[in-house]
Amino acid sequence: MQRTKIVDALKRTDYGADVNIKGWVRTRRGNKNVSFIALNDGSTINNIQIVVDLAIFDEEKLKTVTTGACISATGKLVESQGKGQTVEIQASDIVIYGGADPETYPLQKKGHTLEFLREIAHLRPRTNTFGAVFRIRHHMAIAIHQFFHERGFFYFHTPIITASDCEGAGQMFQVTTMNLYDLKKDETGSIDYTNDFFGKQASLTVSGQLEGELAAMALGSIYTFGPTFRAENSNTPRHLSEFWMIEPEVAFNEIEENMQLAQDFIQYCVKWAMDNCQDDLKFLCEMYDKELIERLKFVIENDFVRLTYTEGVKILEEAVSKGQKFEFPIGWGTDLQSEHERYLVEQHFKKPVILTDYPKEIKSFYMKQNDDGKTVRAMDVLFPKIGEIIGGSQREEDFQKLKTRAAEMGVPEKDIWWYMDTRRFGTAPHSGFGLGFERLLLFVTGMTNIRDVIPFPRTPKNAEF
Ligand code: 4AD
Ligand code: MG
Repeated sequence: MQRTKIVDALKRTDYGADVNIKGWVRTRRGNKNVSFIALNDGSTINNIQIVVDLAIFDEEKLKTVTTGACISATGKLVESQGKGQTVEIQASDIVIYGGADPETYPLQKKGHTLEFLREIAHLRPRTNTFGAVFRIRHHMAIAIHQFFHERGFFYFHTPIITASDCEGAGQMFQVTTMNLYDLKKDETGSIDYTNDFFGKQASLTVSGQLEGELAAMALGSIYTFGPTFRAENSNTPRHLSEFWMIEPEVAFNEIEENMQLAQDFIQYCVKWAMDNCQDDLKFLCEMYDKELIERLKFVIENDFVRLTYTEGVKILEEAVSKGQKFEFPIGWGTDLQSEHERYLVEQHFKKPVILTDYPKEIKSFYMKQNDDGKTVRAMDVLFPKIGEIIGGSQREEDFQKLKTRAAEMGVPEKDIWWYMDTRRFGTAPHSGFGLGFERLLLFVTGMTNIRDVIPFPRTPKNAEF
């Protein structure tokens, strides 16, 4: 008999029909006459109840049907007597695919801490929490493709292995096939990469933006969506060494249109979650964060506040003068820390904020320079509980200005000659940004540690699984 997924079975009303369900046992309880198995197959957070009449089943065999075991159950779909479920299965046949010894299976019924579950990341998708998180993760990926596709953007694949450091921050993981026990160096003591696999020093990308810009100068509107790597040694609840980033890039967009795109994009994704992930969101809301759904609604319904970095710093300085304490100092020219960003969003405006026009010293070489000579057309989108969720800018389209700035910031022209060519040939105003996929997921799921919204987190000193 063909298997029915639990998500579909729970919607059926053709009582009396024979169905087959396969899944993992969440619990089994009962008495000497009847046994109730709560079964889950991952298609939904909801379990289906399998009712086993012990008059027709061998009790010995049922003994291995414990939490975590995998079974196939066949029987009649019946209207449920118990509350909390609509249908259940009156079992006529049960096949046990695999037991899970209660002595050693780590996921017993009792609640586990998220920290403990991180240590068994290979099993944690079987919990309600991570089932919910990873289903939402899937839906967000679909929402992202749908959003851009509807607007005529093309999904463009940028390389993962690269020889250029887009952000210029020197936080790249090297890719090499050289024998690390026997490194060849030249007369000056530098490593000789000419014999390495790519004939030059190569790394994992920190961003697909530079290649994305090449595409925008041909296809008009593009986006990338892929893994990104940063070797920054920050052990925080918001940083991963391997994360996924979505980077739209649009020819002819200036910063205002870029800001609007960012707002529309996030609102679309959040609304998608509200429309498609109700059961999972309801669970996360009840279990972890009572205000989650309210917060999601709020973001869909309200415009993001827009102000300049300079105005933002003024607000923060005023707060400090009125007694607000921050761990890090604040003043024009310093980079904002997460505590500053969250103060603006959570205390001052109580809304998502887009900060623009940052000092050029704290931003990347490619950002469009303002006429004041001090700031660039950067934009960061700041979110409650998260801080920075998006970083982007209008790009410097002027060849000479870009060349000068790259040199000032120590970006070798020989590494980005191809990028410079976009400004040499048919240059145009354009803008884009990067959304951290896991930061979006933190917001949508209400989880507070970024390690809990990616299946197998990579962080400093951690690459298990
Ligand atoms: O602000 P970032 O560094 O911007 C760029 O990489 C640009 N090239 C984007 C562009 O304009 N196309 O990173 C963009 C976003 C951040 O706002 C944050 O959400 C996320 O990527 N991000 C991280 N997420 C998790 N772990 C990390 N270590 C992250 N670093 C950045
Ligand atoms: Mg940034």
